[in-house]
Amino acid sequence: MKLSEFAKRRCQLMRMMGRDAIAILPAAPVRKRNADTEYPYRQDSDFHFLTGFPEPEAVAVLLPGRAEGEVILFVRDRDPTREMWDGLRAGPEGAVERYGADDAFPIADIDDILPGLLESRSRVYYTMGLHPEFDQRVIGWVNGLRAQAKQGMHTPQEFVALDHLLHDMRLYKSREEIAAMRQAAAVSVTAHERAMRLAAPGVTEYQLAAEIVHEFHRNRGVSAYEPIVGGGANACILHYRENAQPLRDGDLVLIDAGCELDYYASDITRTFPVNGRFTSAQRALYDVVLEAQLAAIEQCRQGNHWNDPHDAAVRVITQGLVSLGFLSGKVSKLIKEGAYREWFMHRTGHWLGLDVHDVGDYKVGDAWRVLEPGMVLTVEPGLYVKPGCRRAPKEFRGIGIRIEDDVAVTRSSPEVLTGALVKSADDIERFMAARS
Ligand code: GLY
Ligand code: MN
Ligand code: MN
Repeated sequence: MKLSEFAKRRCQLMRMMGRDAIAILPAAPVRKRNADTEYPYRQDSDFHFLTGFPEPEAVAVLLPGRAEGEVILFVRDRDPTREMWDGLRAGPEGAVERYGADDAFPIADIDDILPGLLESRSRVYYTMGLHPEFDQRVIGWVNGLRAQAKQGMHTPQEFVALDHLLHDMRLYKSREEIAAMRQAAAVSVTAHERAMRLAAPGVTEYQLAAEIVHEFHRNRGVSAYEPIVGGGANACILHYRENAQPLRDGDLVLIDAGCELDYYASDITRTFPVNGRFTSAQRALYDVVLEAQLAAIEQCRQGNHWNDPHDAAVRVITQGLVSLGFLSGKVSKLIKEGAYREWFMHRTGHWLGLDVHDVGDYKVGDAWRVLEPGMVLTVEPGLYVKPGCRRAPKEFRGIGIRIEDDVAVTRSSPEVLTGALVKSADDIERFMAARS
C-alpha cells in the first residue's frame, strides 16, 4: 500500500475530528506465548490503517491543524544490541522517512512530550478498553494536566470514541484496498485447490490444513484465522479447530481457511467429497446450500440492506428443508418461526477487511445498514445435520456443509473476489477427477 493511501486516511480522519481535537492510538502489544517465546507479532488493525507502521511499542498522535506537524509517531529508538537479537527497527528517523510521520520521537520520551501536545486540545479521540494498561496512561496524562488547571492550564474536556469514526472509514474500501483483497483472495483460492488435490481417504485433516498454510506462507501471507478442516460430522462443529482426524471414504470434508496478505483478510469455505464423488444425499443437501449462497450473493447490491442476503439464504434453505423432508408446512410460516435454525444456526456473513470479522456497524439506529459500493462481506450459508439428529431424514445425518465467498459491493453486479474457486457439485467433481 502506498504511503499516500495512509496519508489520505489520516487527512480524512483529521477533517472529521476538527482542529481542537487530538487522536491517540497505541500499537498492538507483543503477546507472550510462554517463557521467552512470543506469538507472531501482528500490528493493531486501526493503527495499521492510519500509519502502516509495523512495529510494537509505538504510539501515533494526530493533531489536526498543528503548524509544526500534524502526524507524530513515538517509536522504539534504534538499539544495536536489541536489533542484533530481535531485528531491525525504524527508529524515529525511519518513522519520518519511511512512514511519512511529520515528526517522530523515542517512545521512552512520551511521558515528557505527550502532555504538552494534549494541552491545547479540547477533545481526545481514543478507543477505551482495548489496551487497559495504555488506557491508564492516557487517563494519567489528562489528569496530570487537570491537576494544573488552577494555574491556568488548558485541559481536554472530553473523551470521544475514536473507533466510531475510524471503523466507519474502514467499512468503505478504497480501490487500493479492494485490489489488496483480490490478491489475498487469489492466494486462498490456490490454497483451497491444493487441498482439493491432496484430499483422499486416509489423508488427515491436519495434512490438508498444512497444505493450505504452506500456500499462504509461500506467498508471503499468513492465516487470517486458524483453518478449520472438518471431515464427515466434524463439519457440524462450526469452529472445529482440532483438525486431528483421518478423512474417510464416502465423507465430505469442510475447509474454512483464508489468507491474510498485506494485512487484508480473505475467508473461503468449500465442502467437497473426500473421494471426489458426492453421494446423492450429499449432493441434494449441497445443492440447497449452493442455491442459497447464489441467491444471497445476488442480493449484495448497492441500495439493498445488510439483511437482504441473509433473508434470501433463509428462504432458499427453508424451501430446501421442506423439499428434502426435514420440515413440513408453509415456507413463510416456517421462516417466521425460525424452523431452519436447527440446521442453519449462524448468520449468512460478516464484514471483511483488515480483520476477518471486520469492523463497521450492521445497523444504523434500528435499521439494517444500506449496502454501498466499497463494502466487502462474506456470504456463507450452511446446513449442519448432527449424526444423532432425529428430526432429519436418516440419509442426511452426519453431513455438514458450508459454502463461503468474499463479495465486494460495486456500482453494478456484486464482485465475488473468491469466484475463481470451483463451487458447483459438478465443477468440484470435474476438478477432482482431473487431479493427477
Ligand atoms: N472463518 C470464520 C468465518 O467464516 O466467519
Ligand atoms: Mn466468514
Ligand atoms: Mn470462514
